[in-house]
Amino acid sequence: MKNLSENKVIKPGPIGIFDSGYGGLTVLNKIAKDLPEYSYVYLGDNARSPYGNRSFETVKNYTLQAVKELFELNCHLVILACNTASAKALRTIQQTYLPKIEPHKRVLGVLRPSTEVIGKYSHTRHIGILGTSGTVLSGSYEIEIKKFFPDCEVFQQACPMWVPLIENREHQTEGAKYFIKKYLDQLMERSGRIDTILLACTHYPLILDEIREYVGKDIQVIPQGEIVSLGLQDYLKRHPEMNALCLKTGERTYYTSDDTANFNAAAELFFGESLSSVHLPIGD
Ligand code: DGL
Repeated sequence: MKNLSENKVIKPGPIGIFDSGYGGLTVLNKIAKDLPEYSYVYLGDNARSPYGNRSFETVKNYTLQAVKELFELNCHLVILACNTASAKALRTIQQTYLPKIEPHKRVLGVLRPSTEVIGKYSHTRHIGILGTSGTVLSGSYEIEIKKFFPDCEVFQQACPMWVPLIENREHQTEGAKYFIKKYLDQLMERSGRIDTILLACTHYPLILDEIREYVGKDIQVIPQGEIVSLGLQDYLKRHPEMNALCLKTGERTYYTSDDTANFNAAAELFFGESLSSVHLPIGD
């Protein structure tokens, strides 16, 4: 495809999927099942994860560095499959970085597709959001859900111990049960009328069964993978020019900023199948 203004040939490239670590693999898993013909590059910033408790400035800088790496790998479209990065860095990247430096590239997050639909699940109009401290403190979910569903009440709960428990594969232990109960009880104390809970962290699908068991069947617990995949399919339909720039060879490459053997071992848990990663330092 030719970009006439610069008169240079732009070659199609893979869709970039970024996460602070492994969590985005739960999103890629769903996207790749729905759109297997597309090519994907996954980048996990495991060397600097978790992002959940880091400052706005740090998450913004780290995320921008990772996005630049994905652009270097010829991605024209990048998805921040990390709620913390979407909540703290996406707006700056979209409004400040892209227009000046990469006007033909696009970066999307997980917040928008989730907040656009979550109100449709709730009858009581009381919605619970579970996320990292960073995501919750940003207030982004509450602000965005209110834009699409002004009649909904949003109750947020930070679950800072869940990511470390999952990353250390301690999420099916008695210790994990204690923290699952603790945060869900705190959320329910805010409103007894919550009938829909969004898992606003890409790690949490790994404890979906435990969360569902604890809250009972009257409360719907919604992971993000399917929502983000549907959002991407809709985006590609509405943007045929970007769709044409997405390579469709079905190839997938996995990069981590940390040790590849550790990544391969843990990634299986998140992705559901074995994979082999390549080391890529970010921001050096
Ligand atoms: N993947 C991140 C998210 O969805 C959580 C992990 C982290 O704290 O880096 O928010």
